[in-house]
Amino acid sequence: MLLLQLVSLALVALASQANSLKLKKDVPVFVKTLKELYRGPPQRTVARADTAEEKWITQPLDHFDESNTKTYEMRYFLNDEFQTDGSPIFIFLGGEWEASPGMIQQGHWYDMAKEHNGVLIYTEHRYYGESVPTETMSLENLQYLHVKQALADVARFIETFKSENAQLTNSKVLLAGGSYSATMVVWFKRLYPDLVVGGWASSAPLLAKVDFYEYKEVTGRAFLELGGQKCYDRIQNGIAELEYMFDNKRAAEARAMLRICSSFDHENDLDMWNLFGSISNIFASVAQTQSPGDIEYYCDFLLSFDDNATAIANFAYWAWNYPSCIDARYQETVEYYLWGIDNFDSSRPWFYQTCNEYGWYQSSRSNNQPFGNKFPATFNIELCKDVFSSKFGNEQIESNIAQTNEDFGGLEPNVENVYMTHGELDPWSAMGQGVAEGATVITKASHCTDFGSISSSDSSEMRASKERIAELVREWLA
Ligand SMILES: *[C@@H]1O[C@H](CO)[C@@H](O)[C@H](O)[C@H]1NC(C)=O
Repeated sequence: MLLLQLVSLALVALASQANSLKLKKDVPVFVKTLKELYRGPPQRTVARADTAEEKWITQPLDHFDESNTKTYEMRYFLNDEFQTDGSPIFIFLGGEWEASPGMIQQGHWYDMAKEHNGVLIYTEHRYYGESVPTETMSLENLQYLHVKQALADVARFIETFKSENAQLTNSKVLLAGGSYSATMVVWFKRLYPDLVVGGWASSAPLLAKVDFYEYKEVTGRAFLELGGQKCYDRIQNGIAELEYMFDNKRAAEARAMLRICSSFDHENDLDMWNLFGSISNIFASVAQTQSPGDIEYYCDFLLSFDDNATAIANFAYWAWNYPSCIDARYQETVEYYLWGIDNFDSSRPWFYQTCNEYGWYQSSRSNNQPFGNKFPATFNIELCKDVFSSKFGNEQIESNIAQTNEDFGGLEPNVENVYMTHGELDPWSAMGQGVAEGATVITKASHCTDFGSISSSDSSEMRASKERIAELVREWLA
């Protein structure tokens, strides 16, 4: 059941894309697995969709160049059902996904706003969803896509929103975010400490890094701790056997097992990296979104086959759910991102941000993970070059990343009144603060899993963390 649910969830996530892509372009396998990893914090759909209103605000295209007078329309959602004189303003920041009102209609952020008669807002990040400032996503047009511009959008939003609402002129503002938008909460407090009284950052990566090999280590650890040694060994041996087959004249057999299309060239490193990176991302997506019982279920599935390689091949085929053969060519990935110049799709702008600001390439460099060694960070650097410009070589990306860490302080952002939470088994947690630096790390939890209302199904640690942020919010608003 769970696997089917995952697959159908994946399909729901892709459905809106599928509608616009229909008959135009299949999402190639590597991009498909990345979409799973960057789809924003989970949110339940709510029946009371009428409580949030879609609104727009005019923003400068470039906050840092006064001679540029161009503007764009940034979208936000507003839920003012509790609004009264002086209501505090609870803003959930959008990240590299399309904003939708769920997060301000239910869940812990909503519950806290309700307690304080807060106004709820969800801001959409420029270049994602409907907040697209340029006609195309050419490299030249993407020059206005940068976290500093996005943070300036939020600052200007807060000032404008307050000045245009007589009841809220002196209201206090709080921020929340998950994943990259949690990073933005931290960085916003660093750049604009006087505009917000506090923030909640769930699963915020803070350290930019090109070769993010720790990611797959934590992914492996999630399978080991929750699925057991046999499951971990099955993954490790299955992937190793597939690699061995490709390298030792049994490529035809391996391709048949994986049902790969004939155009795939196993003698081309880029194709192999594309394939094995995609396989490992399926496991990452499971680890990143797991709830209790999920990994155990997938492990039962993996262990139900007679041999290691078949288990991995069937798992991949099932998860990808392509009607016929799997096109795992590198060139398909490149072409998809190029297609994104004229066809908006959040994959291209986020990939640009990784080349230009963060890296975070989830590579196979570590030996302390079960996913083989056929997807080095170089794979993504080649992709940056082929998709954007040859200027995005290793040196350029390293220097972009160093700049980001210099601007925002890496693991020492030096901010006050930001509550940071992480899941212990969230592969992203390695790029964020740990317990020693003051973050709360929730045992066995994954990525952004703490946004739901306080519930009887919460672990005691999860509950304690939710109560802690509620307490902090009371202090900040006192
Ligand atoms: C799976 O891998 C392990 C470790 O290499 C090996 O002992 C076992 O025989 C393999 N299973 C099959 C059915 O090939």
